[in-house]
This record gives sequence, structure tokens and C-alpha cells, in this order.
Amino acid sequence: MSQPEPKHRLLLALESSCDETAAAVIDRQRNVLSNVVATQHELHERFGGVVPEIASRAHVERILPVIDEALRTANATLDDIGAIAVATNPGLVGSLLVGLTAAKTLALVLDVPLLAVNHIEAHLYACQIAAQRNLFPAVGLVVSGGHTNLYDCHSPVDFELLGSTTDDAAGEAFDKVAQVLGLEYPGGPRIEQVARNGNPTAIAFPRTFLNDPRLDFSFSGLKTAVLYAARGTPGARAQPLPLTEQRMADLAASFQAAVIDVLIGKCDQAIQQTGRSTLLVGGGVAANTLFRQKLQELSDRRKVELYIAPREYCTDNAAMGAIGWELFDRGLFAPLDVDVTPGLVRKKKAAN
Ligand code: KG4
Ligand code: ZN
Repeated sequence: MSQPEPKHRLLLALESSCDETAAAVIDRQRNVLSNVVATQHELHERFGGVVPEIASRAHVERILPVIDEALRTANATLDDIGAIAVATNPGLVGSLLVGLTAAKTLALVLDVPLLAVNHIEAHLYACQIAAQRNLFPAVGLVVSGGHTNLYDCHSPVDFELLGSTTDDAAGEAFDKVAQVLGLEYPGGPRIEQVARNGNPTAIAFPRTFLNDPRLDFSFSGLKTAVLYAARGTPGARAQPLPLTEQRMADLAASFQAAVIDVLIGKCDQAIQQTGRSTLLVGGGVAANTLFRQKLQELSDRRKVELYIAPREYCTDNAAMGAIGWELFDRGLFAPLDVDVTPGLVRKKKAAN
């Protein structure tokens, strides 16, 4: 079957699923010509997390200037755009709607195909943009503020969910533990920094499900364990150790070690269960230096090829919307009445 050809040569990708308004221009060879991200951290910081209504309003204000800047930086105009990709799932409903409405309008006016991108799968495609070659099939782990998902990625458009978190996402655990320790949002980078001076074996925090063959995760017990270690167990006679700088560092390092042990353990199990020889890792937590080192050790031990998203593509961005070209190549266009799906569309492996 002949492949559909783009009328023009460039893809415009939009991302507005949470608290980043982003646009990128990507050519047919997956070169990222521009990648503009307007973060809203400053708007949500004082609330300790993302406030959906504030996020939607900020997306409305920012989406057009961000698209404009992405086109300008890529030295392109709307006439060069041959397709529009947009994250439609999963995310905050009001936030997703802003990106989708902009994308639909542009697709209609320019008369070009609309491509509906799964934000989580796009996080893994960030590995392929950097590698500039096909990395599929592979095991894929997405560790972000909202998701901790393990996939068997059969192809760039066929992801089978192997397991996910049953409560908090790994990034969310970093953010909540940071709050307990009085560190600012987003907590991941701050915990990482404080942990550098701490002893990762100082406190034996739980590694939930580590020895369970299921590929699911749970981080809420760990979060509570850190809370009790920092502030004392309710009803217990013993007072917690004073929260000195060293104690803070030990708590941060021991917490970080527990999260990373579980993530590495589950990747290892997924590699063995699927027999895949490539591992892809993306999402905000993949920016963590110790995690990146431990992934490298796992890849050396298991002799699998490892691709971690480059740091600039770990946190939310639109460049990873380059996965839209994969949909385009297969003629997987979205109708103009496509809707957003806030919850993750789950394609879990059937139990056998
Ligand atoms: O992928 P992302 O930008 O947003 C979602 O799609 O959720 O991920 C943000 C998450 C936050 O929870 C943040 O604390 C975490 O990634 N994060 C990190 C690091 N940098 C960001 N966690 C651990 N270590 C880091 N260096
Ligand atoms: Zn994300």
C-alpha cells in the first residue's frame, strides 16, 4: 500500500495535558526544528501541586503565542505545516481541551490531517527522537508526575500495558516527600540534590511489590513511611530523630534509593518476562542522575540496549509529539470530532 504523502513537509505538535503549554515543529526525518515549552510552575507552586482551573486558563492565554514562537524558531509558517499532532490522552480535561481545540481549528483551516497522540506513549518516543533510528520493539517505562507505567512496546503505535501504579506515581511520591521535608515543588530535583549528602542505607524504607511477579507499583506506603520517619509514628512513644540537615539528607537518600530499587527491579522483571532486548525510559523522573546510573548498570548486567530520553525531553514537551509522524505514516488520522480522554486508555495484557 502506498504511504500517504504530506501536502507540506512539517509536523506541528501541541501539548497541553497538564501544566506545560508546548508546541514543536518536526520535519519528516524526525528532526526537531523548534521545541517551545511554557511552564506554569510559578502559578501552582504556592498550592503545592497543579490546580486544574488555573492550568486551563493559563493554557488559553499561552497556546497561540507558544505556537507562534515554535513556527518562528523553526523558520516556518503555517503554509509549511502538513499535519497537526496533539496530545488527547491522558491528562486534565480542561487542559487537554485547549490544545485539542487549537489543533482542530488549525487542521480544519489548513486542511491537513489531525493526529491524536497518547501523551504517555509520546514520553517513550522521546528516546527515538534522540536515537534517530527505530528502537521498537522494546520494553518501555514511563515515570512521571502522573504515571508509572510499564509497557511492552510492539511498535511505535502498539503499546501493551504490562503494569502501572496502584496508587501514587513515582514522581508524585517525590513531590509529596519533598513537601514533608519542606522542599519546594516540583520535589524530584530538590530531593535529588539533598540526597547527595545522605546515606541511602540509613533508613530501610519498604520496596513494595519488589518480589511480586506482577509488574505493578505502589508508592503510597513508602510515602507514609517517610512521613512517620520524619515526624514520628502516630501513637508511638518514641520521638522522631530531630530533622537536622544530615537527617533530611539521609531521609531523602533512603527514599530515593527505595523508589529506584523498585523501578529497576520491575524493569528487570519486564525484560525477563517479555524477552525484549531494548529498554526505553522516559518521563520526568528519568531526569534523575542516580536512576540513570542504575539503569545503565541494569542494561550492562542484562545485556539489553538502553535508551533514556534526553533530559530536555524527560519533562513535558511537544517534541515528543513526533510520534505523530508514526500515526501519519500508517494513515491513523483522527476525525475532527475526536474528543479528549482524561483517564489513561488501558490496553492491559490479558491474564493467562
Ligand atoms: O513528565 P513530567 O514533566 O510530568 C508528567 O507528565 O507528570 O514529570 C514531572 C515529575 C514531577 O513529579 C517531578 O518531581 C519529577 O517528574 N522529576 C524528578 C526529577 N525531575 C523531575 N524526579 C526525580 N528526580 C528528578 N531529577
Ligand atoms: Zn508527562
